[in-house]
Amino acid sequence: MTQRFSTDVLIIGGGAAGLTAALHLADHARVTVLCKGGIESASSHWAQGGVASVIDPEDSVAAHVSDTLIAGAGLCDEAVVTQTVRGGPGAIAQLSRWGVNFDATDNEFHLTREGGHSVRRILHVADATGKAITETLTRRVLDHPNVDLINDRVAIDLINLNKFGRFANRCAGAYVLNRTSGHVELFQARFIVLATGGASKVYLYTSNPDSSTGDGIAMAWRAGCRVANMEFNQFHPTCLFHPHAKSFLISEAVRGEGGVLRLPDGERFMPRFDERGELAPRDVVARAIDHEMKRLGADCVYLDISHRPADFIRAHFPTIAARCLEFGIDITTDPIPVVPAAHYTCGGVLVDEHGATDVPGLYAIGEVSCTGLHGANRLASNSLLECLVFGEAAAAHIRQHLDESSPEAEIPHWDESQVTDSDEDVIIAHNWDELRRFMWDYVGIVRTDKRLQRAQRRIDLLKAEINEYYSHYRVSNDLIELRNLTTVAELIVRCALARQESRGLHFNLDHPELKEKAADTILFPGYGDQIDVLRPVAG
Ligand code: FAD
Ligand code: SIN
Repeated sequence: MTQRFSTDVLIIGGGAAGLTAALHLADHARVTVLCKGGIESASSHWAQGGVASVIDPEDSVAAHVSDTLIAGAGLCDEAVVTQTVRGGPGAIAQLSRWGVNFDATDNEFHLTREGGHSVRRILHVADATGKAITETLTRRVLDHPNVDLINDRVAIDLINLNKFGRFANRCAGAYVLNRTSGHVELFQARFIVLATGGASKVYLYTSNPDSSTGDGIAMAWRAGCRVANMEFNQFHPTCLFHPHAKSFLISEAVRGEGGVLRLPDGERFMPRFDERGELAPRDVVARAIDHEMKRLGADCVYLDISHRPADFIRAHFPTIAARCLEFGIDITTDPIPVVPAAHYTCGGVLVDEHGATDVPGLYAIGEVSCTGLHGANRLASNSLLECLVFGEAAAAHIRQHLDESSPEAEIPHWDESQVTDSDEDVIIAHNWDELRRFMWDYVGIVRTDKRLQRAQRRIDLLKAEINEYYSHYRVSNDLIELRNLTTVAELIVRCALARQESRGLHFNLDHPELKEKAADTILFPGYGDQIDVLRPVAG
């Protein structure tokens, strides 16, 4: 028998978005937060640069909105951008009340600078901002009697009642794998919030932790939600290049504080590509590095901040300095070898201004969602801001509707009567590697129609194999993630094929031009493959 749990609000994901929503709900409802692993399984924990917000009196909402719109290359929803930017100062004040100590001198926040921002506006805690935020929020959540935070749980699928022959189109819970016991559990709730983060693990090289397998996007898609703009995968220009350094980011703030990018022969090359140099938006810098690496056949380029005083470097970038030193690189004297890597999923589950999805009862917040804030390219440090603002917005909306929904009692058990233990684990591991490799090779920083079609053919083969495993074997963590990654890969390729232009993060050599009219790519679930709609963006 499947073990059943019941709560008011089930939040799947304990990063910045999920924890923020939990804290805004905790005084009003019973909340359960599920995470795949501990705090380190969230990208939020690894965030370095900081949170963008209008704090400096010289700065303005209009300027932050304008920088976001420019980075977003015509696809941002201006109303959502304004809502998010306006929410920044309040969200920062709330974080400070909860106990996050942003770097400050004489009661004035220290603001750093990142690419695409016209002024200094990034609040930070040295170069480990995410760690400070997630540790503080987790402590608060653990102290609250109304919130249960449960690790080692992997949500497998959302429960939409209409899939069980009921008429109601409503999300009523989720089936969840308990990674410790190996059993599947059922969590029922009045409201479900997806806060599962992004999908950058679909690429071979990524800055993200292992949990970023796009589970929330794939689950929402299967449950009947529209998904949008999946072709906009952000590659961070500077991840540490070292055979033993798995996914370690070198913050954009290093460039913000004067770091320059150099070729192996020492030439500073960014001014040849963009007048903003190293502080051009990420798509521009990542493509320039990719171009130079391919032109020279180089393994990496170099990020050099050694011209700044050693004390300044150690004070601002203690985490980066310490990690690089483990690999014999002293960043106060040596240039840092760097390469681009998949970093952020700009598209996701389509939501409204409250984070509500197409399926009643289901919300999506943080990186899993597509709110309209990022458009075709996310501005640095706007992601944590979005997690905070939409975490609060979703919580407020749920609070208003809490009494209108009662938990559904008769959800079927998880049926394992037809499946056996897998004897194919090695194949699952091979499929994982294959998927991530061809996504990197064919659906990476620079795309062509032919490469995208090649990727689609491989995805079709993988899907058939995965469906077979899925119907014959008990679910495992790896199988769940592989299934979701393959779904996400397909959504990315479908969106990329639909976009016959180059815009923001999507660059296709067969369609290098920018169309005059900007449009979102929206995928509709349940209607087969034919309907990929390009929704025109207002203005
Ligand atoms: P996450 O923080 O990724 O949390 C996802 C949660 O969902 C985790 O708890 C995970 O365990 C859980 N989960 C996932 N799938 C399941 C499942 N199936 N079942 C149960 N639980 C599940 N952005 C900025 O704005 N500023 C920065 O300085 C910055 N630096 C970054 C540095 C790095 C190295 C990285 C990787 C990202 C950075 N970003 C930054 C981006 C930003 O950190 C993320 O976009 C943001 O933190 C996402 O938060 P989230 O709450 O949506 O998801
Ligand atoms: C960084 O510190 O470079 C990451 C910032 C971000 O992804 O917003």
